[in-house]
Amino acid sequence: MISKKLTTLLNKQINLEFYSSNLYLQMRSWCDANSLDGCGRFLQQHADEEMQHMNRLFNYVNEAGSMALIGAIDEPRSDYKNVQEVFEATFEHECQITKEINMLVKAAYDEADFSTFNFLQWYVAEQHEEEHLIGSILDKIKMIGIEGKGLYFIDKEIGGIADNRPEEPPAP
Ligand code: FEO
Repeated sequence: MISKKLTTLLNKQINLEFYSSNLYLQMRSWCDANSLDGCGRFLQQHADEEMQHMNRLFNYVNEAGSMALIGAIDEPRSDYKNVQEVFEATFEHECQITKEINMLVKAAYDEADFSTFNFLQWYVAEQHEEEHLIGSILDKIKMIGIEGKGLYFIDKEIGGIADNRPEEPPAP
């Protein structure tokens, strides 16, 4: 059984994963509107993965004898100046999610809830991977540049990353 406090925090994280999915789906829409098919594929894949992250938490909370709650989800941002701004916003968002996960891990540890602590380790590893992935995309954007043909190559490169990424296993 998870404590009331941890249930509240896990439900907050469920909401954040939903928000992340909507944020990336909205970014995909921005890419579509700007003819960036490769970036759009990458962001759609990310939106789908965020739903898996949400489901993983949702199932855990219910299995642990508490009740997962879906609250109101904030409207995602939809205005971006260019694709660099899209990926900068993605990176900032992932760093924020890492902080939230770390806070959750600390709360589970402080309560000696080692089942939840253990469950959250998957998210710790996932955040490390996501920060690295988005950070490397941002590096490429800065290296290639988004002027003229640079934008075409960026889109091709990011689409290639999406096409070659192994599929994330479905939420248990
Ligand atoms: Fe659910 Fe992108 O972290």
